[in-house]
Amino acid sequence: MKLFNWIEQELKPKVCNSEEFFYDEMESQSDYCLPIIYQPFDASKKAHWRDRGSLFDYLFSTNGEDRKLLDFGPGDGWPSLIVAPFVREVIGIEGSHRRINVCRENAKHLGISNARFIYVEPGKSLPFPDNTFDEVMAASSVEQTPDPGFTLKELFRVLRPGGKLRINYEALNMYRNGKEQEIALDEKNKETCRLIIYDRNIEKEYARMYSIMFKKPCNEIMNYFSRDGNSLSLDMLTIPLLEKLKSAITEARFCSLTHPSGRTFLLWLKDIGFRKVISTHSGAWFAGQLFDQFSEENRPKDMDTIDKLLKPLVKIVVQMKAPIGDDPMITAVK
Ligand SMILES: C[S@@+](CC[C@H](N)C(=O)[O-])C[C@H]1O[C@@H](n2cnc3c(N)ncnc32)[C@H](O)[C@@H]1O
Repeated sequence: MKLFNWIEQELKPKVCNSEEFFYDEMESQSDYCLPIIYQPFDASKKAHWRDRGSLFDYLFSTNGEDRKLLDFGPGDGWPSLIVAPFVREVIGIEGSHRRINVCRENAKHLGISNARFIYVEPGKSLPFPDNTFDEVMAASSVEQTPDPGFTLKELFRVLRPGGKLRINYEALNMYRNGKEQEIALDEKNKETCRLIIYDRNIEKEYARMYSIMFKKPCNEIMNYFSRDGNSLSLDMLTIPLLEKLKSAITEARFCSLTHPSGRTFLLWLKDIGFRKVISTHSGAWFAGQLFDQFSEENRPKDMDTIDKLLKPLVKIVVQMKAPIGDDPMITAVK
């Protein structure tokens, strides 16, 4: 694409891993929206029901109780910190120093003492001997690493025989039909903002991202790339416009990530040596469906009642085979 050639030649973007591109930059990786961790549980919100569904998903699909769990790439401490009260110990492994600090602060503020967070340099082996963990969880993190195949091999190595790996991944399929290429604006401070350009190739299973930092307020840049002043239009991002704004550009970055499809994940996990690999429904999806079954008046109002309702059902749901890619959760047994 001509635009990307222009960015490469004129802006010489710094090649980054996902930490340098996204996660070291973010004050909160979840935009402070996580229930329990950032907000009190609210039974009127579907997202909060989904969160409880995820909790029981990770507990039941990994047989987590009284176990030592690894959480690969916890971000703001999710799911480590919601799972911690139900298990012996959780160790979160992060490739971002900033995220590690956030996870530790969140653990402290929640009074959780059985969750620890350890830094690992992206792309390097995990700092644990073979067979260290009873179970492993990885939520939207394997596809953020420099080499997802290597990451899966490492997760296999540190898992004990008989232990389970439960993975949630971002399937690029969700961007089909028009969202393959997108732009987004991120306000850094009053005078600086960052334009991010996403270029996703669903068939080839990769996503490439460019970011361009402008020494200009976010609303000013928004006006250049928007028709209505509220939403960005990719077709307004042109070389002549970037030429015009070039003196305000202070930096550019590039990051390329492999996003394996569900099918590729299943193949890789089998090749690595997992003896059973299945794509199942997810506890989060099920909890969301259940939320929709209630009218506002009939809906349970407190977390304990919702937990009692969800627990036995999620236990069944996470064992139910789902079509690959429809509901991106995989269980792999070593
Ligand atoms: C999309 S976020 C998911 C965070 C959290 N699990 C959640 O679902 O809310 C991906 C996380 O993976 C971490 N990550 C990316 N590459 C990594 C690596 N090589 N080793 C460890 N963590 C990594 C990132 O720093 C980030 O916190």
